[in-house]
Amino acid sequence: MDPRDYPLDPFWMPFTANRHFKKYPRILVSAHDMHFVGEDGRKVLDGTSGLWCTNAGHCRSKITEAIREQAGELDYGPIFQMGHPGPFKVAERLKRMLPGDLDYTFFTNSGSESVDTALKIALAYHRARGDASRRYLIGRERGYHGANFGGISVGGIPGNRKTFGNLLTNVDHLQHTHNLEQNSFSRGQPAWGAHLADELETRIIALHDASNIAAVIVEPLAGSTGVLVPPKGYLERLRAICDKHGILLIFDEVITGFGRLGAPFATDLFGVVPDMICLAKGLTNGSVPMGAVVARQGIYEVLMSAAPDSAIELFHGYTYSGHPLASAAALASLDVFEEEGLFARARDLAPYFENAVHALRELPHVADVRNLGMVAGIELEAMPGKPGARGFEVFLKCFEKGVLIRTTGDTIALSPPLIISKAQIDELVGTVADVLRQADRV
Ligand SMILES: Cc1ncc(COP(=O)(O)O)c(C=O)c1O
Repeated sequence: MDPRDYPLDPFWMPFTANRHFKKYPRILVSAHDMHFVGEDGRKVLDGTSGLWCTNAGHCRSKITEAIREQAGELDYGPIFQMGHPGPFKVAERLKRMLPGDLDYTFFTNSGSESVDTALKIALAYHRARGDASRRYLIGRERGYHGANFGGISVGGIPGNRKTFGNLLTNVDHLQHTHNLEQNSFSRGQPAWGAHLADELETRIIALHDASNIAAVIVEPLAGSTGVLVPPKGYLERLRAICDKHGILLIFDEVITGFGRLGAPFATDLFGVVPDMICLAKGLTNGSVPMGAVVARQGIYEVLMSAAPDSAIELFHGYTYSGHPLASAAALASLDVFEEEGLFARARDLAPYFENAVHALRELPHVADVRNLGMVAGIELEAMPGKPGARGFEVFLKCFEKGVLIRTTGDTIALSPPLIISKAQIDELVGTVADVLRQADRV
């Protein structure tokens, strides 16, 4: 019997093979802690925190209660030339959590909007300083910075760019840091590759001239293109080169924020402080859309002082920036992270997770295993002539066995909620192992 009283066809699903999905739907109807429940009543272990969002697990009562309560008190409040308490409180919490003078938060509704906001702030900052020639924005190959025009322009995924012609001009890309010949089966940060940051100076600055470059944006650890862990010393070198040439450094921490790497943020783990940091996803534990860009004090102050008193200083914002429900969800999520010590828990659990995923090394078709904190990438050999097909098959087979993994091309990306138990890590990785052992069929 069809369990559904709604049609599947009219919903045009994002980043999804719509026709395949609608033939073989995978519908989740509820969730609690580490599990989803499918429409057939089957429990599915969440190996991906949804989409790198639910770091504290699903439907946590403190968060759902906070959202419910807020919805009954102030459902919406205008945020242009008006305010309500939520976003002020969240901004104060982020200021306390983030290092250095990353003190000023601009709210958005997604990672994509955070990225575009940060790029715009970078351009506005240089212009406000009287340095309007700095218009180049530098991204990196295999970077993912969301799906909006700014993000796909600085992003480095050909499939996300090639269809859309009119991207931002004045953009260039660093090469990515992934190199299996040098770094395969690295545990934690690979030893080789710090020098790849020098390309910023030797090629990009040499070509465009530093006086024309506004900002460099990178994911400290690139998630969506297959878990690319930064080589030791790489981010430090990028920071030093940016400092030397007056270029802003933006970290896109949309997935690395809120404990994913076993530290509050990647900036803490690597000891490299960017000029702006893009956040989303874990900020509300995935429960209500919210993104944020946190900028260093100097950026905020330059923009404030460049405009006349009582004039709008930055012509940018969204109707739902700092939405009351999202703010309530963020405050409750930050409480849960703190009360349960989840970032330290992730740090302590990471070695167990590392050992579990590296045990996959000997299985059929495994080309690499890499990991950091509570993220792991298992790269599989592509089927001849069919890139991505093996990854997708493994994803489907794991789902049949009650485990949700994420695959990007032929790389499996695991990023479970930070509340996962050791037994559940065994189940997650064990299911992947079972599926890979049936390699002839995948
Ligand atoms: C690093 C990074 N930046 C930006 C985004 C885009 O976030 P959103 O899908 O919320 O727009 C993502 C999403 O996966 C991401 O991983």
